[in-house]
Amino acid sequence: MDHFAYRNGVLHAEDVPMSAIAEAVGTPVYVYSRATLERHANVFREGLQRIGRKHIAFAIKANPNIAVLRVLARQGYGADVVSGGEVKRALAAGMPGEDIVFSGVGKTRIELREALEAGVGQFNLELEEEGVALAEIAASMGKTADAVLRVNPDVDAGTHAKISTGKKENKFGVPIGDAPGIFARLSTLPGLNLRGIAAHIGSQIFDLGPIEAAYGKLGDLVHTLRAVGHTIDRVDLGGGLGVPYERDKVPPSPADYGAMVERATRGWDVTLYFEPGRVIVGNAGVLLTRVIWVKPGAIRPFIIVDAAMNDLARPAMYDAWHDFEAVAPTGERIVANIAGPVCESGDTFAMEREIDVVKSGDLAVFRTAGAYGATMASTYNSRALVPEVMVDGDKFAVVADRILPEAIIAAERVPDFLND
Ligand code: LLP
Repeated sequence: MDHFAYRNGVLHAEDVPMSAIAEAVGTPVYVYSRATLERHANVFREGLQRIGRKHIAFAIKANPNIAVLRVLARQGYGADVVSGGEVKRALAAGMPGEDIVFSGVGKTRIELREALEAGVGQFNLELEEEGVALAEIAASMGKTADAVLRVNPDVDAGTHAKISTGKKENKFGVPIGDAPGIFARLSTLPGLNLRGIAAHIGSQIFDLGPIEAAYGKLGDLVHTLRAVGHTIDRVDLGGGLGVPYERDKVPPSPADYGAMVERATRGWDVTLYFEPGRVIVGNAGVLLTRVIWVKPGAIRPFIIVDAAMNDLARPAMYDAWHDFEAVAPTGERIVANIAGPVCESGDTFAMEREIDVVKSGDLAVFRTAGAYGATMASTYNSRALVPEVMVDGDKFAVVADRILPEAIIAAERVPDFLND
């Protein structure tokens, strides 16, 4: 459930008509609903209410806007981060360092040091050598780093290949069979407190079966590690729960997920860590756009909108579906293609889609754009970097400026040797 709905024939975010935002900020622009963010944060937490010891770390790669993070911080959420930049964002949003989980397959030594300085609460190690480096750096600072080892459970999440992470051919985690040896070696190092294990098998998952299979393997590993004397008090279960991009395809609910987690982890006696991303922010955002032209096509008309693949990359990258809805629909429908202005055929949001009839100048939205939307934007074709707005009841505020080409050009230089 979200707070984007039609009132008197006009799409609103909470109590604000989309047309008011377009008028004030221009288009394209991402629009987030605070009430929806809070609702999703609550629903996810309530789904896990039967889990005793837990820590929920929002995967901020899904939406790192600091206003969004502030909403989630106020809900008691921590952050799952994958770069030094994301550590800085979590801190800037007011999240305590100890609530931050540092994941990522290529953390540099500089990032590890800065994260230790920030008091990051957990490092998810991706390889043995990273554990050795982290131990050395922490010991040199007189600190002990809390860490878990990410394992690759070799389970097919049944999602798009580009967002699948838990198969043995993927770059993530250590082969699960190698974990006991790595534990044996890393657990002797001063500066490192290896407290448990982690896994994340993929994103936009619609079938809980593979996740449960992966958790089953983690349970076996907890048992194996304890049997040889390791203290295991944390298991990080990753993220991955899907969202309904298409209204008639309904993913498992957080309550379904929570029931499965409770069943799969019974008796583990650990603090469970969760890293949800998309399920928290996906439906809390839309991309508001204006139709530039309706261009007759050989087969179907092309609706050319002012948003493009540089603003919302998911359709071009993953053939992803985003519902397209007119802000003030007339009730008439048409089958059309929807495309942006970027000079690539891949800059197409939908082909042969039945949509509301729109004409030049009309406003429309791409739904479910709150996750992996603005954060994946670029300035390709020297387009502006897309701005973001947050709505709260009848108020709204720009929470990320539109970065204009002038500002981007100002950061570039023509070197002296080209001036003679
Ligand atoms: N934890 C780890 C270690 C991850 O790699 C990810 C996502 C998450 C948590 C959060 O997963 P979520 O709950 O959002 O599914 N850009 C792609 C998605 C990439 C996901 C990468 N990792 C997309 O737009 O579909």
